[in-house]
Amino acid sequence: MGSQEFDGLKLNLMKNNRRNFIRSVSMAGIGVVGANALVSCKNESSSVAGAEPGTPVKDDGKQIFNMSGYAAPALETVRVGFIGLGMRGPAAVGRIRLIEGVEIKGLCDLVHEKVEKAKKILEDTTHTPDTYSGSEEVWKEMCDRDDIDLIYIATPWALHTPMAVYAMEAGKHVAVEVPAAKTIDECWQLVETSEKTKKHCMMLENCCYDFFELLTLNMARQGFFGDIIHGEGAYIHDLVGLNFNKETGYEDMWRLKENATRNGSLYPTHGLGPICQVMDINRGDNMDYLTSLSTNDFTMQQKAMELAKEDPFFQEYTNAAFRGNMNTTLVKTKKGKSIMIQHDVSSPRPYSRIHLVSGTKGIARKWPEPSRVATGHSWFTEEEMKALEEQYTPKIVKKVGEMAKKVGGHGGMDFIMDWRLIDCLRNGLPLDQDVYDAALWSAVAPLSEQSVANRSQSIDVPDFTRGSWESNAPVDISLEKGATTGVNMSVLG
Ligand SMILES: NC(=O)c1ccc[n+]([C@@H]2O[C@H](COP(=O)([O-])OP(=O)(O)OC[C@H]3O[C@@H](n4cnc5c(N)ncnc54)[C@H](O)[C@@H]3O)[C@@H](O)[C@H]2O)c1
Repeated sequence: MGSQEFDGLKLNLMKNNRRNFIRSVSMAGIGVVGANALVSCKNESSSVAGAEPGTPVKDDGKQIFNMSGYAAPALETVRVGFIGLGMRGPAAVGRIRLIEGVEIKGLCDLVHEKVEKAKKILEDTTHTPDTYSGSEEVWKEMCDRDDIDLIYIATPWALHTPMAVYAMEAGKHVAVEVPAAKTIDECWQLVETSEKTKKHCMMLENCCYDFFELLTLNMARQGFFGDIIHGEGAYIHDLVGLNFNKETGYEDMWRLKENATRNGSLYPTHGLGPICQVMDINRGDNMDYLTSLSTNDFTMQQKAMELAKEDPFFQEYTNAAFRGNMNTTLVKTKKGKSIMIQHDVSSPRPYSRIHLVSGTKGIARKWPEPSRVATGHSWFTEEEMKALEEQYTPKIVKKVGEMAKKVGGHGGMDFIMDWRLIDCLRNGLPLDQDVYDAALWSAVAPLSEQSVANRSQSIDVPDFTRGSWESNAPVDISLEKGATTGVNMSVLG
């Protein structure tokens, strides 16, 4: 389990024990003096002599069943069980309770108090969930029930794939927080389990449902950008305060441990998902190879050293091999396009996911705000932007956008995502994000680690669709089917 996974690392965080990747972090022979020098050299990695950056492509199998475009039998009522009720999970409970045709049947967290707190959100509603807590594997009891259709997972990253695989094997559809997997091996587990069980495995990439992202997806579909040439995305979000906070941060400091033991683009999917949809990745195009470069860490070890002066808890982190602050990953697609993804959660910068779409006829760029669009040397004026919005706002936003803003959740995108997920399940429609998207977008993290550890050498990206990307249909954003699910806003008061 998550905490167990890190136990071995507690003793020696300098050692990176990821089983799939070879990484050489040699301090020997480097004439370093003083703490800053230590910080600046410790993230330099080089290829081990004779060790090729072996591409973890699993080419020994055929697709069992193509889950792209797969429509599971319609469910009149979607019965949901939640696992993980920390900072993220309860907000999902609060949103899902508003959607008609849903029954919340179970709430699960390791920590009893968190389950009780989440249960309170459902007071004054018709939902009467059973609760599960107190042991590392109690979530399995909830997955084993035969009156649940969907398991909604918001736990630490290391638990995503084990929980998703178990839930699918137990006959449940899965909605899993980002990233869905940590290793290439896990990505394949998700793909093969979903294909074998014909259960959906949707990664909850909410940023695909943000307003400007949906607008640009519709613009791309209508040909506004011409042929797409290049896209950029990012996760630039200063999380230092949260990652190092023992009281109100992540349970058991799981996210600090991730940052202290891995080096790459650890959280790529927020920037990547919307760009992949615009480029029809897995559906007409696919990733071919990537190369990834990380800076050194200039802030996190210093932070650990400062905190360790007052609190011995942080002592073990003073020698940790922290991830480099800024990672830049470049992807070349099979059809010759490029994607740039950046990751920095430890520098004092304003938030950005960039979201840049560039084509033969135009460009859009969301961050730094305000969002801009151009078709030549100058950005559009405010009036021109308004006219664009009127012309290209997609139907899903017209249908639930205003409601979503009232419900909240990252400005409304979380609710649009949840509503669409439930509506697709209730109408027996394919989900917007399938298991191949979950696997591919998540895979960029371990692949970037591999490239970073080998002086940014290019790494082939596995084809999780096993060739079906060439004929898979693009995501349907027409809202011509379904859209029958109501929302009970009265619960909000
Ligand atoms: N999509 C987004 O915008 C977004 C935003 C925030 C977080 N997230 C993702 O949501 C997930 C959860 O993040 P968070 O911020 O809520 O972290 P958190 O640490 O606050 O919550 C994780 C919860 O999982 C529980 N847990 C751990 N082991 C468990 C087990 N064996 N059984 C049951 N419960 C267990 C913990 O007790 C904790 O309550 C992460 O994957 C994170 O990346 C996504």
